[in-house]
Amino acid sequence: MGTRPLLNRRLTGMGTTIFVEMSALAVATGSVNLGQGFPDTDGPASIAQAAADAVLAGKGNQYPPGPGVPELRSAIAEHQQRFYGLTYDPDTEVLVTAGATEALAAALLALLEPGDEVIAFEPFYDSYAACIAMAGATRVPLTLRAPGFRPDLDELRALITPRTRLLLLNTPHNPTGTVLTPEELAAIAELAVEHDLLVITDEVYEHLVFSGTHHPLAALPGMRERTVSISSAGKTFSFTGWKVGWVTSSPELVAAVRTAKQYLTFVSAGPFQYAVAEALRLPDSYFEDFRADLTRKRDLLSAGLTAAGFRVFEPQGTYFITTDITPLGEKDGLEFCRSLPERCGVVAIPNVVFYDNTEAGRSHVRFTFCKRDAVLEEAIERLARRQGR
Ligand SMILES: Cc1ncc(COP(=O)(O)O)c(C=O)c1O
Repeated sequence: MGTRPLLNRRLTGMGTTIFVEMSALAVATGSVNLGQGFPDTDGPASIAQAAADAVLAGKGNQYPPGPGVPELRSAIAEHQQRFYGLTYDPDTEVLVTAGATEALAAALLALLEPGDEVIAFEPFYDSYAACIAMAGATRVPLTLRAPGFRPDLDELRALITPRTRLLLLNTPHNPTGTVLTPEELAAIAELAVEHDLLVITDEVYEHLVFSGTHHPLAALPGMRERTVSISSAGKTFSFTGWKVGWVTSSPELVAAVRTAKQYLTFVSAGPFQYAVAEALRLPDSYFEDFRADLTRKRDLLSAGLTAAGFRVFEPQGTYFITTDITPLGEKDGLEFCRSLPERCGVVAIPNVVFYDNTEAGRSHVRFTFCKRDAVLEEAIERLARRQGR
């Protein structure tokens, strides 16, 4: 095989994600895992039943249509209309994907040429860096800085070059919990139009907003035809294993993304697509109760982390709380997270792995609160008794 590394150089350094390392540590030490963001209770029983019914009725057990089953595409279009007043044609402007992850990969692979630059908020969700690299493009981070984690719009303007092809936005933002305001979105839209940029928006936490509301960038003037809006069912309905995601955009952008997507998975999750169509049509009370429940969990964990001595940056949305460990007399989040399971039986994620400018996130640690109250309470108690305090 010679001396050439097996892994191509675009993916060098992306060997195992932090989630694999930390989840293994959680198992080995019997820790409470507040690392990876998945709920420990399933979503609505009626929706689980709809998936079981679909399997037994032979709906979606064979390859579904490439763009997604018509029932789901219609339900996605209805959802965009119902919550945001956005009109999409289910036949030409909606594409179903294997989670938001595939939608992101397909969009980046479809829209980028080698050498293009992509501006993305950092800390970034880890698949962004890998997919931009696989497309041969370059990521350009716009650092969201503590304590507010707001995007500096002058800095954004300064980062735009003739090679900038697209902006990759995530709102609500993982891991900081930042939700972009209408004013920030308007300023970003103006820049995108001025510089003729494409935009990909990752909106998987659209229904997990605790203060204010989520606003899709695509609703702003001049944005619909240049924005690929991405979301998925995993977080909103607490079925992260189903991996049903979607894209809404102009017919031209959807066609481009579909071209890449058809050579990734082609199709996926047939029966689950029918169940997600039902989920998207759940009454407003589902979405309100879900938000209220998560707000309560956020407040529970936030109070516990504060009591244990962490500096808590209150998130406006998502499953996550970012903290600063400096008040604990600690500096290095990675070291802290590697020793925390041994020291007190809790697993968290060091934000530094989501940065290029590692200094900005060195002392930040992320905890998820999408867990049962008893689990959160146990973690809080363990953190309060932490050795070496
Ligand atoms: C910001 C962000 N985007 C995308 C995803 C992946 O979504 P999916 O499970 O639908 O692929 C996640 C999951 O954690 C996420 O946090």
